[in-house]
Amino acid sequence: MCSMKTVVSVFVLVLCLHHADVLAMSSILQVSPPGENLLSSTAKDDAEKIIEAAFDTTIVYDRLAYMTDTFGPRFSGTPELERAIDWIQAAAEQEDGITVKSEPVMVPRWVRGNEYANLLVPRRKSMRILALGGSVGTNGTTLHGSVIVVSSFDDLENQKDHIRGKIVVYNQDFVSYGDTVAYRVSGAERAEAHGAIAALIRSVTPYGIQTPHTGSTHTSSIPAVSITIEDAKMFARMQARGQSMEIELYLEAHTLPDVQSRNLILEVVGSKHPDEFVVLGGHTDSWDIADGAMDDGGGAFVAWEAVRLIKTLGLRPDRTIRAVLWTNEENGARGGQAYANDHISELDKHSIALESDLGTFTPHGLSFAGSDDARAIVTAIGEKLLSGIGSGNVTGVGVGEDASYLNERGVPSGSLYTVDVRQGGDSNNPCLPFSQPPYPEFQEENFGSSAYFWYHHTAADTIDKLSPQQLQHCAATLGVFVYSIANLPSLLPR
Ligand SMILES: *[C@@H]1O[C@H](CO)[C@@H](O)[C@H](O)[C@H]1NC(C)=O
Ligand SMILES: *[C@@H]1O[C@H](CO)[C@@H](O)[C@H](O)[C@H]1NC(C)=O
Ligand SMILES: [Zn+2]
Repeated sequence: MCSMKTVVSVFVLVLCLHHADVLAMSSILQVSPPGENLLSSTAKDDAEKIIEAAFDTTIVYDRLAYMTDTFGPRFSGTPELERAIDWIQAAAEQEDGITVKSEPVMVPRWVRGNEYANLLVPRRKSMRILALGGSVGTNGTTLHGSVIVVSSFDDLENQKDHIRGKIVVYNQDFVSYGDTVAYRVSGAERAEAHGAIAALIRSVTPYGIQTPHTGSTHTSSIPAVSITIEDAKMFARMQARGQSMEIELYLEAHTLPDVQSRNLILEVVGSKHPDEFVVLGGHTDSWDIADGAMDDGGGAFVAWEAVRLIKTLGLRPDRTIRAVLWTNEENGARGGQAYANDHISELDKHSIALESDLGTFTPHGLSFAGSDDARAIVTAIGEKLLSGIGSGNVTGVGVGEDASYLNERGVPSGSLYTVDVRQGGDSNNPCLPFSQPPYPEFQEENFGSSAYFWYHHTAADTIDKLSPQQLQHCAATLGVFVYSIANLPSLLPR
């Protein structure tokens, strides 16, 4: 997940659905009592089969550990990404018997190269940095400059007459990912507009252990670099004391021509309406410095697993279920755009598009973007089929990056959202319900302290952050949602 659009609205609270809404919905579909009769007579049994089978195998964790250990970072434009995609396709076809389609996508090829930054004055210190994806380099030379620290975009405007020729350090507080990512995305271009020669941006994370977080940035012609929370705060302290600071910066970052990658579509063909679709998915690519276990190997693999469970159990959905494993979400979202463009003629036959790109911790349910009528149905499904494992809550309005290209073309969309054991619950048994739920509803400030953003876009996004049980729980949740939505009497109402 890389863009502001992704998270900015995910955790906006939504009014609870009233019984009356569900009733209104039911009359549209001419069923009663509300919610229940939308589901087939075997829906509850089928859901239980999916849940039981999901918790019966550690295949998702084992596969994800294998992929992240074996192929490492899967950055767009690299052979490692393509090898990982090849491996996924082969395993899904040969081991699972799933039909897999591969759809080519041209993706950007940004290369980090070597990079360093040193504080020179008032002392020499080697800084831990990561150029932001898409940044320009320093043209083979070392850039020297004095530092000016700003605490916000407002502060940048206040100090605009002192920016020219300097290296701007952004020391913005972390409010939430959705709010604070604006500094990573447009910090450099806004500093450049006032004559800055480089922008060093405090990592977008609630918590730091000297770890820089990369991520995408709008193109500017000055270097855009992520620095640690610790360094950003130190520079702010130095400036407050009136100390002057000088930095040298060397980046080899550059952009090469686009390279071909591809989306994978793992399909179980519908028995009644093969040309109507229920989509779920995650992205295969990661940042160049990250194994991308959380972001988004886990999301892609629980989508794959949901399809594998349905296939292995011999369940035949009425509509076609597609796990779409998008490429290049992180630094271009070309995969999400390509799927929406390539399938434009069948988008009106897409019932829903679900995405998992916010971590695969203990699932709480879905956020949902669609009509109130569709929301009422998805809510009823969650309550009826998933309350037993506590992951059927439908709240929020957010959509992930890749599904957003479908949602903006009218496809009802949703995002798996999860809570984190590090915020409460029982870390020995993450599948137990929270004794003290951290969220009455899932709010941004709570999400801000989620461990997802401790590791997000860092070298610490590795498989040890995930648990087999949480992945099972996520796969079960998505499997039940997509299978039951695929068997509704009609497409979800727009
Ligand atoms: C590198 O060179 C290009 C082209 O001359 C120029 O536009 C750019 O500003 C230079 N970048 C830096 C960081 O000096
Ligand atoms: C919603 O979340 C709460 C708290 O985690 C859980 O107890 C409850 O079962 C969930 N509801 C559904 C419908 O899954
Ligand atoms: Zn992601």
